[in-house]
Amino acid sequence: MIVLGVLVSGTGTNLQAILDAIAAGTLDARVAVVVSNFEGAPALDRARTAGVEAVVVDHAAFAERRAFDEAVVSVLREHGVQTVVLAGFMRLLTGVLLDAFPMQIVNVHPGLLPAFPGIHAQRQALEYGVRIAGCTVHFVDAGTDTGPIIAQAAVPVREDDDEAALRDRILAKEHEILPRVLQWIAEGRVSVEAAQTPGGRARVRVRGHVEAL
Ligand code: GRF
Repeated sequence: MIVLGVLVSGTGTNLQAILDAIAAGTLDARVAVVVSNFEGAPALDRARTAGVEAVVVDHAAFAERRAFDEAVVSVLREHGVQTVVLAGFMRLLTGVLLDAFPMQIVNVHPGLLPAFPGIHAQRQALEYGVRIAGCTVHFVDAGTDTGPIIAQAAVPVREDDDEAALRDRILAKEHEILPRVLQWIAEGRVSVEAAQTPGGRARVRVRGHVEAL
């Protein structure tokens, strides 16, 4: 069993996928707290409906990002959070959060990294003309969508896709792989190995059988 803190800014369908997986018994975790950076996030209602404490830490109330992150860290610590999930959290993290939860922050990104980091990954994929798109679950480091990759899943790009159609196809995959990765973490199967070569990247190892995604 792992204790999760989920950071959100939006609709919270990935949060819902986590809550549903816990309810279905396929994810051995407890969501101790959901934190949103603004009051209007529909994800807050999903948390409350599931009986999970939902806290707003309004980023506009903080003069600088580090102070905002300090407030978020204290909420996470108060709730005994072990693993932090960024589920549509639209704020860049500072070292305050990264240092408080080193390689314990997981992000889901709607693109096959390292292609198309940042915002509007689906639009970037369509504009580039790729035939395969997808999503990535990775640990968060100091860069934007640069951290060690844990899992990825692919979807086809169809001739008549617009951004919304592609977003929905990718989102359905996000909802599959994010809870699956969290279950791997709950089982203690995921570790990060430091780079072996100068300039090399840290790599994630997942022990045991890794189910096809
Ligand atoms: C997802 O596409 C996620 O990959 C991105 O933001 C979106 C959040 O959607 N980081 P939701 O709030 O989980 O519905």
